[in-house]
Amino acid sequence: MSFQINTFEAYQAAYDKSVSDPEAFWGEIAEHFFWKRKWTNVLNWNFKEPDIRWFDGAKLNITENCLDRHIYSNGDKPAIIWEPNDPQEAHRVLTYKQLLAKVEQFAHVLKNNNVKKGDRVCIYLPMVPELAIATLACARIGAIHSVVFGGFSARSIADRINDAQCKLVITSDGGFRGNKVLELKNIVDDALVQCQSVERVIVLTRSRTPVSMIKGRDVWWEDEISKVETQGNLAFPAEEMDSEDPLFILYTSGSTGTPKGVVHSTAGYMVYTGYTFSNVFQYQPDEIYFCTADIGWITGHSYIVYGPLSQGATSVMFEGIPTFPDAGRFWDIVAKHKVNILYTAPTAIRSLMAFGDEYLENKDLSSIRKLGSVGEPINEEAWNWFSEKIGGGNAPITDTWWQTENGGILIAPLAGVSPTIPGYAMLPLPGVQPCLMDENGKEIVENDVTGNLCIKFPWPGMLRTTWGDHERCQKTYFSTYEDMYFTGDGCYRNKDGYYRITGRVDDVLNVSGHRIGTAEVENAINMHSDVVESAIVGYPHSVKGQGIYAYVIANHHGKEEDTKQNILQTVTRLIGAIAKPDVIQFVEDLPKTRSGKIMRRILRKIAEGDTDNFGDTSTLLDPSIVDKILEGAQAHK
Ligand code: WT7
Repeated sequence: MSFQINTFEAYQAAYDKSVSDPEAFWGEIAEHFFWKRKWTNVLNWNFKEPDIRWFDGAKLNITENCLDRHIYSNGDKPAIIWEPNDPQEAHRVLTYKQLLAKVEQFAHVLKNNNVKKGDRVCIYLPMVPELAIATLACARIGAIHSVVFGGFSARSIADRINDAQCKLVITSDGGFRGNKVLELKNIVDDALVQCQSVERVIVLTRSRTPVSMIKGRDVWWEDEISKVETQGNLAFPAEEMDSEDPLFILYTSGSTGTPKGVVHSTAGYMVYTGYTFSNVFQYQPDEIYFCTADIGWITGHSYIVYGPLSQGATSVMFEGIPTFPDAGRFWDIVAKHKVNILYTAPTAIRSLMAFGDEYLENKDLSSIRKLGSVGEPINEEAWNWFSEKIGGGNAPITDTWWQTENGGILIAPLAGVSPTIPGYAMLPLPGVQPCLMDENGKEIVENDVTGNLCIKFPWPGMLRTTWGDHERCQKTYFSTYEDMYFTGDGCYRNKDGYYRITGRVDDVLNVSGHRIGTAEVENAINMHSDVVESAIVGYPHSVKGQGIYAYVIANHHGKEEDTKQNILQTVTRLIGAIAKPDVIQFVEDLPKTRSGKIMRRILRKIAEGDTDNFGDTSTLLDPSIVDKILEGAQAHK
């Protein structure tokens, strides 16, 4: 007995039931998990505060669902196949039995280092199996993990550690990405200068990059494991968690301020990621599944670690990048590990497509059965290339729309079960009630319309709060429209009711599938001593989806190029290389209204190269500035 739906009729029936009787629907699905104690209520909620509780009264530990319960029937099945950055290095396989043993060992390490239930642990590791092990070990002991993507700067790590008051940091000496070595421990050291809450740093050996181990604070992963081993290879009983105990915090950018710590809780997240993994990818027990994301993002949390493991799947984890040693690397991995399901991002597809089809020659992609896309709208050309060249024309593509705040996929076809249209995420999964809102805050019920995408009813995987600031959660997601979760995305619903996400309607950019707040980049640029003011907008970019365009007022003392490089360095230092602007244009002034608001619409148009009609500019304080910026932009081309 499984909860996997295998026909479109069954999908429709499940969907109908999920709307007419959501509690019965999710209650039955939850029966497919292991509980230490069952719930008293399936759902309590209001979107006003918001207060959302799923499976209240139940007790569980997500790692028993991801590991222990598979041991008897599937203990020797590979849970994680790890492919290193360098193809010459041996890959690693961890069976469910082995992964459980390693998680238990590391849970002991955490305990020996004074980590307790409810404590926050920051994880800053490269994509090595120990990243999954550390994450699961936190969950086993009931500590709340906050994984920070390895591309973020010391300052970003410090902000995240301080916001959550993390007690312990797990990192490595370094990490390999293509032909670069990331000096993770050194970056952590820079971060920790500003962090009082951290008592201990556990350092994994990976790159043998020289590091400075601080007495009394820093310990080696391997030494800590040896200590546990000399105590005997002990089991570690999973901590009993309440359904709504926080499982993790993951920081994400919004349109204002610093990144928010999105909080996901235990039971609902587990049920939702397991259910959606099984159904969207139509996972079969013998299949090898490869998600190319980094565990530092929500896609990796939900669809490398928790979702696949709770369903007893084999999950491939890749340390490197798609273009190292060459642009055929993904296809080598597919052939080597006989990958059946490949879940990747449009930006990767477009970049590999641009390298040319010669990188596909002699690659055996015959194992591919299903394909997935996530992170940004996928253009038709990339969709078709993916389908034809990678899927051989007969592997269904599931274009999955969701967000960090959602925990799991909300709108997507079930692979091979639902119809597909290139560029469309198609239909909501069972339990998901999307709606489109017009600018007056009214729901648009017709088809063939565009609106702001909201969700009307809770689903188990949704965020519960933003760490340390519940009001911010309320304001950001639940105040734009009454009794609705607002996604920040625009969406088109075609005549048949199929959904196509058109992109953010707020000041959030999506650069190579990474979410970047314009305000954050502006704040970083404005920190540079020569900068007076700046404005960031996105523009269409053929590989990245969106590029970052910066309009900067600066005293560059006639050395424009030097100042540009210094600004880029400032952004890299303050946020990370992922937030570096693609274009910097120096301007005399910004187009501001009399009330001092920057008219971003005009800046966007200029960045896009669409200069025909700027609309009404009469409210501008100085309309002539528009022509000056335009001239400057054209000089840039
Ligand atoms: C934003 C969320 C959780 C997925 C990874 C990114 C955009 C995501 C799609 C898609 C069109 C998409 C949206 C969303 N997005 N998937 N299939 N089609 N747009 O998570 O960093 O939280 O970003 O990514 O704009 O709001 P994220």
